[in-house]
Amino acid sequence: MRHDHLITSKQLSRADIETVLDYAAEIDADPSAVANRHVGTVLGLLFFEPSTRTKMSFETAMKRLGGDIVDMGSVESSSVTKGETLADTVRVIEGYADALVLRHPKQGSATMASEFVDVPLVNAGDGAGHHPSQTLLDLYTIRENAGLDDLTIGIMGDLKYGRTVHSLAYALTNFDTRQHFISPESLQLPREVVYDLHQQQDGTGIREHDALEEVLPSLDVLYVTRIQRERFPDENEYQKVAGEYQIDAETLEAASDDLTVMHPLPRVDEIAPEIDETDHAAYFEQAHNGVPIRMALLDLLLSDDAEIRGDGDE
Ligand code: NCD
Repeated sequence: MRHDHLITSKQLSRADIETVLDYAAEIDADPSAVANRHVGTVLGLLFFEPSTRTKMSFETAMKRLGGDIVDMGSVESSSVTKGETLADTVRVIEGYADALVLRHPKQGSATMASEFVDVPLVNAGDGAGHHPSQTLLDLYTIRENAGLDDLTIGIMGDLKYGRTVHSLAYALTNFDTRQHFISPESLQLPREVVYDLHQQQDGTGIREHDALEEVLPSLDVLYVTRIQRERFPDENEYQKVAGEYQIDAETLEAASDDLTVMHPLPRVDEIAPEIDETDHAAYFEQAHNGVPIRMALLDLLLSDDAEIRGDGDE
């Protein structure tokens, strides 16, 4: 794996994904082995949108590698309120940090920002675009619970605005998977994403549905997402779909005993709390996997060490 920036999951080959996942598993087994790998390294956090898991797990990851973070803080307390452009902000903060993590409400912002900096930049969510480090921890969780080959996955909820969905769907085309997309018609995957997925997977592995019942019994993994209220141009449109596509213990009676239920979190009301204590629930484990995955990712992006970067291919 040798990428300067990680902007979308489309950049990642199967070999890249396996390099990060294998290395994260090694770190997970013995985090102390890498505790001093990046002493003195500083990671810059630029979050223009709310975040709990992504921001805190990047921070924990950098600290567990021996490094530290600088955090722009909230938009309200930064110079953004004085009218500073994103290009200027990233150019300034790259002078304080060895790598940057950016979350921004505008789709395409990470690509644009990456053109202004020389240090590695990780897209931690650009509007309804992509969120590739989330995908890596999603794939890690899927691999641990269900395996990544011969996988039947249902991805349900807000497929239109859900950036975790877009990144995951592209990445899964590297594996032998059948992907079922379940949503109301108004929140279906963007047509260009469907087109790309068909191109990449011969059209055999992609199906769209409006009801979970049609596919639930066949699923190994059900990936549930939140309706992205903040991205709806019209609150009335949100109200029309709010509360649809919830699952509870009764819903899962039709599922396989081995079904793994995932969610990038935060959840609103998509998954009833009664599922939390069942063997199906993997969403808290999934959130915790953010630390070893981001440790592996940061180490790979920050090191010139060919051994850790797999075969060192350009
Ligand atoms: C997701 C996001 O920000 O896209 N959260 C996360 O990073 N785990 C999902 C969401 O906000 O619904």
